[in-house]
Amino acid sequence: MTSAASSAGSRPRVVLGVAGGIAAYKACELLRRFTESGHDVTVVPTAAALEFVGAPTWAALSGKPVSAEVWDGVHEVPHVRLGQTADLVVVAPATADLLAKAAHGLADDLLTNTLLTARCPVVLAPAMHTEMWEHPATAANVATLRSRGVLVVEPAEGRLTGADTGKGRLPEPAEIFEVARDVLARSQAGSSSATGALDLAGCHVVVSAGGTRERLDPVRFLGNRSSGRQGYALARAAVARGAEVTLVAANVDLPDPAGVKVVRVESTAELRDAVLSATAGADAVVMAAAPADFRPTQLSDVKIKKADDGSAPSITLQQNPDILKEISTHRARPDAVIVGFAAETGDATGSVLDLARAKLARKGCDLLVVNDVSGGAVFGSADNEAVILGADGSAVDVPHGSKAALAHLIWDQVVTRLS
Ligand code: CTP
Repeated sequence: MTSAASSAGSRPRVVLGVAGGIAAYKACELLRRFTESGHDVTVVPTAAALEFVGAPTWAALSGKPVSAEVWDGVHEVPHVRLGQTADLVVVAPATADLLAKAAHGLADDLLTNTLLTARCPVVLAPAMHTEMWEHPATAANVATLRSRGVLVVEPAEGRLTGADTGKGRLPEPAEIFEVARDVLARSQAGSSSATGALDLAGCHVVVSAGGTRERLDPVRFLGNRSSGRQGYALARAAVARGAEVTLVAANVDLPDPAGVKVVRVESTAELRDAVLSATAGADAVVMAAAPADFRPTQLSDVKIKKADDGSAPSITLQQNPDILKEISTHRARPDAVIVGFAAETGDATGSVLDLARAKLARKGCDLLVVNDVSGGAVFGSADNEAVILGADGSAVDVPHGSKAALAHLIWDQVVTRLS
């Protein structure tokens, strides 16, 4: 066996496998994203994939010759060289047939040979009809591949070929790219071995994101400025670490992350219902959402009109349930790790950290991620800065960085507590 990994300073080597499904055309965009962000990509389609998108397209977009067979350029021994020298293998779309071959170690073309020789992380993004995805044979093949450390991304739900809808759609290429890039970055950072990087494999995690809205009348609501970006970054990072992820999203205008079950909600009451039902079997829950603390006591079913005398209506509010406190004090699973967020500004009664420590104790969660939001800097931005407080007294300072980086540091803390 030759060592994989490209030499220092060279571009990361990615093998993009494309199996024979209609979603093969979407792999063109995935390829572009890899090449435009500095990856050295070799496309390896199957013969069936070439029925959907021809070799000239792959060759033009990758800048390299393309073959589906082991018989081209035999003097370069491509059937072992490509896998051995890759830093990452991604197959999108992966068909039921490709999953079966990979699970059973068949090697009758260049892609399946490459999968057998690769020692780098392997990401498979299946796409097929719902019946095929749900077939016990496919389920068993997926389980086998996952048990060997392959990251099999759950397909999305939605429109399939023809008039069908259901589970089996290829996630958006931009989102597959995010997962693949994350897997590659973690592997290159040497944070873990190719298989150990999937340290949330077998875990079900629930993440809430966004800001809830409380309706006043058919056109107005009380809301807040949460964009949902941190929760979405947490969901993406958990997928890249092998977790089954449920994302409860309150009014978030972002594309669905690949491999994530997204449950959309509007109000705090709906958020509570969705979180409680998903939490029953969860290993970890991260409440990154900003639920409205209050809702109008009365919801008007007609638009509230201005009064001619210039007076303004009074709105009375009542408190919403505290979901984090509820799931922390009445735990569905005593061993689950529960994480809250606190956006604090500090006040006359205490500093940001004083208030956060008190909040951690009050809520009863295991970890509290504290953002200093004096000046409103965090909302909607791509970056974040935080302290992760533990109920055990720990405090991890997270310097200014991306929300994705913070997400991984949060999962690091969760993983330590899960094990
Ligand atoms: N949270 C919740 N349910 C609520 C309000 C907040 O589950 N009704 C969760 C948030 O998702 C977050 C954490 O509690 O993880 C802290 O939110 P924050 O708004 O800072 O806490 P509050 O309890 O509302 O405290 P404060 O009085 O400081 O606003």
